[in-house]
Parts: sequence; C-alpha cells; structure tokens
Amino acid sequence: MSRLQVVSGKGGTGKTTVAAALALALATEGKRTLLVEVEGRQGIAQVFETEALPYEERKIAVAPGGGEVYALAIDAELALLDYLQMFYKLGSAGRALRKLGAIDFATTVAPGVRDVLLTGKACEAVRRKDKSGRFVYDYVVMDAPPTGRITRFLNVNDEVAGLAKIGPIHNQAQAVMRVLKSPETAVHLVTLLEEMPVQETADGIAELRAARLPVGRVIVNMVRPQVLDAAALELVAAVPRSSVARALSSAGLGGARRGGHAERLVDPLLAQAEEHAERYALETEQRAVLTDLEVPLHELPLLAEGMDLAGLYALARKLRGQDVS
Ligand SMILES: Nc1ncnc2c1ncn2[C@@H]1O[C@H](COP(=O)(O)OP(=O)(O)OP(=O)(O)O)[C@@H](O)[C@H]1O
Ligand SMILES: [Mg+2]
Repeated sequence: MSRLQVVSGKGGTGKTTVAAALALALATEGKRTLLVEVEGRQGIAQVFETEALPYEERKIAVAPGGGEVYALAIDAELALLDYLQMFYKLGSAGRALRKLGAIDFATTVAPGVRDVLLTGKACEAVRRKDKSGRFVYDYVVMDAPPTGRITRFLNVNDEVAGLAKIGPIHNQAQAVMRVLKSPETAVHLVTLLEEMPVQETADGIAELRAARLPVGRVIVNMVRPQVLDAAALELVAAVPRSSVARALSSAGLGGARRGGHAERLVDPLLAQAEEHAERYALETEQRAVLTDLEVPLHELPLLAEGMDLAGLYALARKLRGQDVS
C-alpha cells in the first residue's frame, strides 16, 4: 500500500470529501495518517466541521479502532520560509534558488515554486521518522489540485532538478521526485458517472502515465442507487398504462376507475421510470469507459441526506470494505 496517496479529480466531484474519508479509512488499527491540503481553501476544516486549520499538523479525528488522523493546511508562503531557512543554512543554495528567478521575496510566489514547496512539504511528511527510526505517519493523503493541473503539479520538481543541475536544490528536487514516481505514491482520481468527469479522468490517467507518475485507483463518487433491476428497466418502455393503474389500485393507491387517484399517478410514475432508465443507460456507458482504463474502480454512494461527519465515517467504512486502504 502506497504511503503517499494523492487524491485528484474534476472540480466538485468530491476530492476533499474522498481524501478525508480515505485518511480515516487508512487510520485503522492504531495507524496514523496525515491529511494535507494544498489549495489554501480550508476544505478539510469544513469536512471535519472544525475551525480553520493553521499551518501546523494537528490531530483532527480519531478513527474507529483507535487510529488517528492529523491534518495540515500547507501555506505556501510559510513553507517558503521553512525552505529558505533550510537553504540559507546550506549557504550558496539560497542564491541559486534566487538565480532560478523563481522567488520574489516581496510579492507573490510564482506558481511553479509554490508547487515545489507544496509537494516538498508532503514528501517530507512521508519520509519523516521519529527518534526510534519509525515513520511518524503511516500514510499521507493529499487533497490535491484538480485533474487538469495534477500532472504538472506533481512533476514540477523534475523541472527544478533539470534547472539546478547540481547542489542541494537539485538533490532536494530529486528526492521529491523519487518519492512521487515510486510505488510509494498512488494518484487516485475521483469522478462521477457522467460524461465530462469521466472524459477528464481518462485524459488525466493518460497524462499521468505519460509522465510516469503512479496511477492508483478511480473512485466513482455520488453513485445513485439502482432502484429498478434489468427486467424492470426493460418493462418501462413497454408496460401498458392500464396494468400500471390496476397494479396501483391493487396496492391500495386509489380506485381503478378512470380519473381516480391511481389513474392520475400513472403518467408521473412512468415518466420517472423512463428518466431512471435513461440515466441508467448513460451510467452504464460511462462505467464501460472507466472499465476500459484498466485501473481498479471503487464506488461511493451519494449520501442523499447530504454530507456530515457521520456521512464521512460511513464513506470511510465503504472504502475500507472495498479494500482501498
Ligand atoms: N458521496 C457524497 N454524497 C453526498 N454529497 C457528497 C458526496 N461527496 C461529496 N459530496 C458533497 O459534494 C460537494 C463537493 O464535494 P467536495 O468539496 O469534496 O468536492 P471537491 O472535488 O473537493 O470540490 P473542489 O473542486 O471545489 O475542491 C460538497 O458539498 C460535498 O459535501
Ligand atoms: Mg476540494
């Protein structure tokens, strides 16, 4: 099982929710996971219903069985200060970093450097050991940028290692890429059973593979229950209205005479069934596209009553049940 689990996917498909559920799922049996957020949007705090997270690792949840989830909202500017400290200690490396033209002390941090800092911090947490030589975190789960940006984001250290040919920055960038391109890392993509996110997932996987980044799993989120089985779906198009009305009244739903309650229920019911059959056909198509990607698929249900902490734990149980952890 990879120790760094990166969760990407199309915007709004549930990356933050799935990353949080995965962190909980991995924290079983006394394990400790770190859930990191890199987009500065305090999504993790929202999902766990707590106040905004500082740039500091803190325990955010206890998993069933006693595992612990820590969380960290990585602040790029504070991470930069960390790194500068490190590089200044390393002497000329600080100057080399400036020579890359990458750092503007006074104003904003260039996006590339930002990503170097964010991925660097996550990899540092992956590799960190305590005094007795044990990993501090069994797993690090990253709520990562969306599919369109994920490959570039994870690959940024390759560019840096190429620019700084030798020295501590080169070594640091290479160390990060060693983690990211190894089986120690898995990049998961969250999707919905809809055309756009599925297409984006297929494109994302192709890009990750081309960049030799380790593709993990596809997690299909917000899957709606299938209320009609195959036989019922076939009937939807062909069933006579009169037999639906008779069935309704024999189920006690109003009289069978014309204009009665049962009669009035028939059209809306059939319309709903048709809509369901249509959606089911579309979903089947998208499932087939996903299956062709040859990546393990997992499914998480749509929680009809909305997301809350209990829902999050329920999703974590589902992930554990599907052996994602
Ligand atoms: N399985 C689910 N059932 C019901 N609601 C869900 C489920 N998963 C996610 N949601 C809800 O969908 C919305 C989007 O989820 P989330 O914020 O995790 O997506 P995201 O991909 O991180 O979005 P963004 O691209 O904005 O970061 C949230 O309101 C969340 O509570
Ligand atoms: Mg999010």
